[in-house]
Amino acid sequence: MFRRKFLATTLATAVALSLSSLYGSAYAAADATTVQSDENWARNSVIYQIYPRSFADGDGNGIGDMSGVISRLPYLDKLGVDALWLSPFYKSPQADAGYDVADYRVVDPMFGSTEEFERLLKEAHARGMKVIVDLVPNHTSDEHAWFQAALKSPPGSPERARYIFRDGRGENGELPPNNWPSVFGKAAWDRVPGEKQWYLHLFDSKQPDLNWDNPEVRAEFEKVLRFWLDRGVDGFRVDVAHGLIKEKGLADLPIEEGRENAGALVGPMWDQDGVHEIYRSWRKVLDQYPGKRIMVAEAWVTPRERLTHYIRPDEMQQAFNFDYLMTKWDAGAFKEVIDSSMALTATVGAPTTWVTSNHDTVRAPSRYGLKELGKHALPGNGIGPATAQPDEALGLRRARALAMLTLALPGSTYIYQGEELGLPEHTTMEGQYRQDPMFLRTKGEEVGRDGCRVPLPWKADAPSFGFGPGDKTWLPQPASYARYAVDRQEGAADSTLNLYRKILELRHDHKLGDGQLQWADAGKDVLAFDNGDLRVLINMGAQAAALPAGSQVLLSSEPLAAPDRLPANTAVWLKRT
Ligand code: GLC
Repeated sequence: MFRRKFLATTLATAVALSLSSLYGSAYAAADATTVQSDENWARNSVIYQIYPRSFADGDGNGIGDMSGVISRLPYLDKLGVDALWLSPFYKSPQADAGYDVADYRVVDPMFGSTEEFERLLKEAHARGMKVIVDLVPNHTSDEHAWFQAALKSPPGSPERARYIFRDGRGENGELPPNNWPSVFGKAAWDRVPGEKQWYLHLFDSKQPDLNWDNPEVRAEFEKVLRFWLDRGVDGFRVDVAHGLIKEKGLADLPIEEGRENAGALVGPMWDQDGVHEIYRSWRKVLDQYPGKRIMVAEAWVTPRERLTHYIRPDEMQQAFNFDYLMTKWDAGAFKEVIDSSMALTATVGAPTTWVTSNHDTVRAPSRYGLKELGKHALPGNGIGPATAQPDEALGLRRARALAMLTLALPGSTYIYQGEELGLPEHTTMEGQYRQDPMFLRTKGEEVGRDGCRVPLPWKADAPSFGFGPGDKTWLPQPASYARYAVDRQEGAADSTLNLYRKILELRHDHKLGDGQLQWADAGKDVLAFDNGDLRVLINMGAQAAALPAGSQVLLSSEPLAAPDRLPANTAVWLKRT
């Protein structure tokens, strides 16, 4: 099998040099670190997100697990990805699908054992794939030993000081301490039964926020990092990296911003400057380990410049580029976001990342099959039976073209499990099956994220489409998933799976992840650029466009009816002559 790693030291040095002039003297000392991290494997990596509960089920209980992942490592290897990111598999009551951690050092029996995780790690490494794991530092589960101890301890105790407890307002403390809403709906505070005190949870009631002003919390997380680094993980995806520090005083939000502000990117609970010293201290821990361990920030921040703070030379190596994910189907909009993403990350010498789907957002084929993106570009705003439905064929066609755009860009790219199958969202899932706390807390007003978390189809004609040995799946799969099953796509030359395999192979061979983008002019609806010895074109308009005469087509997302025409919603990679 073709394999992955290639380093570009010359380019790296050039970037580091330009960094020192652009970024000024404050980071002069850190530039040395940058030169090193330019050799970092993650600068150009294709990282595949595994959402363990929905990837593959080894034991047949309807929920995916470690043994399921292990059994599919050959599939991932053949796909040609460089690294895997596993969403949380730690001990958890699963109030938010594992993003509510009860014990950071234990694999939940639902997913397997620590030994199985270690086997997974070893086998992935043997195949040349890195493994990064999810770290959830903003909050614990309410079933975490610390929170249980806090509830049993009096106000003002050291146990309570690990979380954010405050007295309620009103005569008897019957009103929440401030008016902050939870991202998942309703208030961000719950009252301790029989007391004046309330605790803060920016997400579900079962996800109390930690108090990051407390040194004990900081010390504990450094130990958690070391625990997994010692086991050999290659890095961490840092959940809600923009949330850990809250503005002192916990002041009310301006009146009645209410829900509108809940998922917002600015406010006294988001993107406070104080988070950065935490990431600097973590970086020091990571750098004590061999092999360039990385961190990637999940930080929903605005304006875009703010994201670069998380990837300064002494903080994280990457941040998810959600601006790219939220871009509407329009050549000008894509050009703008690509340009600004690359320009901004260059100011700190970090690689740009590209992401088009994940476990919080509507899958790309469904998003781009909608007439209007509207709020569905934002996380949590799923598509339900009462929502305008996407055009499945159009969405798939666009998603295939988008994959050829995205994976031709220099930098590091994330693929969300099933994306390589062109898998759509389950857009008609009835409320009775939905489990996302966002759906539950808003009584269905927000559709939530279950639609993008449906168990993967592996075999078209098997029960649960081959997700597990039986017919159980924790969320129902739509009948259409048969068409997308891995075994259906395996032998079909023009399948999305085979398209992805070719994309990744060519990306590797032509060193696109390490390349440089040079725009070419191709009209209003067509994006065209050169990267190394390839020219990439994507037609985002409704009409066919011209291809340069004598083009040598290496790959196209759809068959080309005529050699000099690029159909609508289609991308090609041409050999530059
Ligand atoms: C992140 C996760 C999301 C989770 C939330 C709370 O945004 O991606 O799935 O619900 O954090 O942990």
